[in-house]
Amino acid sequence: MGCEDMTEIFAHRGYAAAYPENTMISFQEAEKARADGIELDVQMTNDGELVVIHDEKVDRTTNGTGYVRDYSASQLRKLDARYKFGDLPKSERIPLLEEVLEWLAETALVCNIELKNGIFPYEGMEEKVALLIRQRNLENRIIISSFNHYSIVRFHQLAPNIETAPLLTDGIYMPWIYAASIRAKGFHPHHRTLQDDIIDASKRSGIRLRPYTVNKEAAMERFIRRGCSAIITDDPAKGVAIRKEIK
Ligand code: G3P
Ligand code: CA
Repeated sequence: MGCEDMTEIFAHRGYAAAYPENTMISFQEAEKARADGIELDVQMTNDGELVVIHDEKVDRTTNGTGYVRDYSASQLRKLDARYKFGDLPKSERIPLLEEVLEWLAETALVCNIELKNGIFPYEGMEEKVALLIRQRNLENRIIISSFNHYSIVRFHQLAPNIETAPLLTDGIYMPWIYAASIRAKGFHPHHRTLQDDIIDASKRSGIRLRPYTVNKEAAMERFIRRGCSAIITDDPAKGVAIRKEIK
């Protein structure tokens, strides 16, 4: 995805360092900060709507309580998702995935959709996500990731033309071979697991790698200099500035 010789800057949950994560303002501000892409998390309501929120519960990031899967979409949309950014002038809703993709289609951004179906399997999530992407003709600008690798494989079977990338928490052996074995074009490793030889071997194999969540300047610089395909960061403005300094 994107320019192969430049490390892209993906805004993790939007511009999460300065705006409420996974909200429209956070995505819009990431674009203004000149991020190349956004990352977001998807869960599902009890009436089958795909909503953009990280946790299975609404408690941490909204003024509500309880599980996302116990809310209908309209109930969920009444919550205020500003959480620790309560001084923002107006409340922020939990976005529908559809709403984000509608906005994204008018931008040049890439979007990394993380399927949050590792704890609750959310039956039909893969089909619904694939349908929304197709309806907006966004196949070439989406990367599907998940910690649930069965879901990654299922998504690839449903939509082989949409890029997939497993999320890796631990330093597994030869992750570029693993990614290729499940037909993924890349993988998204925790940044602390990423040794230089893994970066080099993945690049040689044509497998993209986008470490998360890279917020420290030294780590950003290292991954950019080493030629990672992208870094996923809470602070896209910092990532863009560091990349510019290096060039
Ligand atoms: O996609 C990278 C990263 O978002 C995965 O971890 O917990 O922030 O969703 P988490
Ligand atoms: Ca995520």
